[in-house]
Amino acid sequence: MAPHSLRVKKLALIGAGKLGEALLSGVLGSQLVSPERVHATVAHQPRANALAEKYKIQAGTDNLRAVKGADLVLIALKPQQVKAFLEETQKALSRDALLISAAASVTTALIEGALGHKARVVRAMPNTPCLIRQGMTAIARGRFATDADAKIAERIFSSMGRVVIVDEKHMDAITGLSASGPAYVYTIIESLAEGGVKMGLPRELSTELTAQTLLGASALVLQTGEHPAKLKDVVTTPAGCTIDGLLELEEGGLRVTLIKAVVRAAQRARQLVEGQNT
Ligand SMILES: NC(=O)c1ccc[n+]([C@@H]2O[C@H](COP(=O)([O-])OP(=O)(O)OC[C@H]3O[C@@H](n4cnc5c(N)ncnc54)[C@H](OP(=O)(O)O)[C@@H]3O)[C@@H](O)[C@H]2O)c1
Repeated sequence: MAPHSLRVKKLALIGAGKLGEALLSGVLGSQLVSPERVHATVAHQPRANALAEKYKIQAGTDNLRAVKGADLVLIALKPQQVKAFLEETQKALSRDALLISAAASVTTALIEGALGHKARVVRAMPNTPCLIRQGMTAIARGRFATDADAKIAERIFSSMGRVVIVDEKHMDAITGLSASGPAYVYTIIESLAEGGVKMGLPRELSTELTAQTLLGASALVLQTGEHPAKLKDVVTTPAGCTIDGLLELEEGGLRVTLIKAVVRAAQRARQLVEGQNT
C-alpha cells in the first residue's frame, strides 16, 4: 500500500505520553497523516499545549472532542485507563472507526465488550525505538477487524520500524519481551560500558563502543538469519579472551536472569488492566 493510500479523515491519539508521542512522531514523520488531521489528548493542559506547539496538531484534554468524527483512534493510555475512556466516549465514537490500542494487557475482546458493538479493533504492541523508526511492533486483529484494518495498522507501524502480525494469545509474552526489552538492553549497555570504564576507557567512548556493538550484532542476527549461538562461536577463538568473558557471564547466571526477566514481565503484563499494584 502506498503512503498516500492511507486516507485518514481524522486521527485521534488518546494518551500522548511517552509511547503516544513516539507514535505521533512516527505517523507524522512518515507523512501518513497530515498534522491538521490529528487530535491528541493527554491529562494535563500544559503537556497538550507543548504537543500542539511542537507537532502543529490539535491537542487537548477532551477525549470526547478528539474522537468526534475520527475514523482512526489510536489508544496509548495506561491499561487501567482504557475502560473508563471507552465508557466516556462510547456514544461519540463512530461505529465505523478503527481502533488501534497499544495498551499492554488490554484485549481486543475487552474493547469490543466495552463498546457493545462489532467494533473493529487491532491490538498493537510497539516499543519506544519507534521514535527513531527502529521500533518492533506486534499486531493482532480483533474479531471484527478486517484484513484491510490489519494492513492499515501494519502500514502505520512499519513506518516506525519492523512489524509482525501475530495471534493475540502471544501479546503478553511480546509485551514482556520486545516492549519491555529496550529497558533490559539499556541496562546491558550501561553495564558493559561500565566494564570499559573499569578498564580505563572514557565513559562516552565506552558507551559508543557498546551501543554500536549491540546494534551490529543484532543486525547480523536479523540479516543472516543464523542462530545466535553459531554467530557467538565465530567470535570465540579457542583459548582466546572471549571464552573467558563468556565463562563469567555463565557464572553470573546471565542467561537465566534474562529468561526470568521476560517471564516475570509477561506475567505482570496480564495483570495491568486490572490496575493491580503488586
Ligand atoms: N512506554 C513503552 O515503552 C510502551 C511500549 C509498549 C506499549 N506501551 C503502552 O503504552 C501505554 C502508555 O504507556 P506510556 O509509557 O506512554 O505512559 P505515559 O507516558 O504515562 O502516557 C500516558 C499518557 O496518558 C495521558 N492520560 C492520562 N489520563 C488520560 C485521559 N483520561 N485521557 C487522555 N489522556 C490521558 C497522560 O497525560 P499527561 O502526560 O498529561 O499526564 C500521558 O500523556 C501503556 O498502556 C503501555 O502499556 C508502552
